[in-house]
Amino acid sequence: NECTFIAVKPDGVQRKLVGEIVRRFERRGFKLVGLKLVKASENLLREHYWDLRTKPFFSGLIMYMSSGPVIAMVWQGSDVVKTVRKMLGETNPADSLPGTIRGDYCVEVGRNVIHGSDSVESAQKEIALWFGQSELQRWEQSSSRWI
Ligand code: GTP
Ligand code: MG
Repeated sequence: NECTFIAVKPDGVQRKLVGEIVRRFERRGFKLVGLKLVKASENLLREHYWDLRTKPFFSGLIMYMSSGPVIAMVWQGSDVVKTVRKMLGETNPADSLPGTIRGDYCVEVGRNVIHGSDSVESAQKEIALWFGQSELQRWEQSSSRWI
């Protein structure tokens, strides 16, 4: 079953949005398979955002993402990668519709509260980068036949 990597960024943790964000994915019907509070190293973040290494905002992005703890999570479910991207909204909060996480909780692209993998392939890479196998739980969600 498909999994995605989601991180509540340091601004989201500081602004106490963790509960609200987790609640949205639970209510949608996705299954939580991994969750931890971590201060990401600059090396990990450089690898995570490797595709953006030539962008002018890259060093600012690494500073932002390493400025405090993040909540790193893995969620599972049908079409979870695509659906979570819809639930996040656009990269720039100004383009994000109300009802999306970015559309409801932020205004700056450089403080956009949450990350979600952009494809099944990047989800697999990001999960392997952020989590060890022993940190991911296999469990049966008793509500699964109703979702
Ligand atoms: P992530 O879920 O964090 O990967 O965002 P995304 O997939 O919607 O966008 P992308 O991967 O292109 O960019 C990664 C992150 O870099 C964004 O979420 C922003 O925090 C930051 N970013 C992207 N574009 C800009 C920009 O033009 N200026 C600034 N300051 N930050 C940007
Ligand atoms: Mg991205």
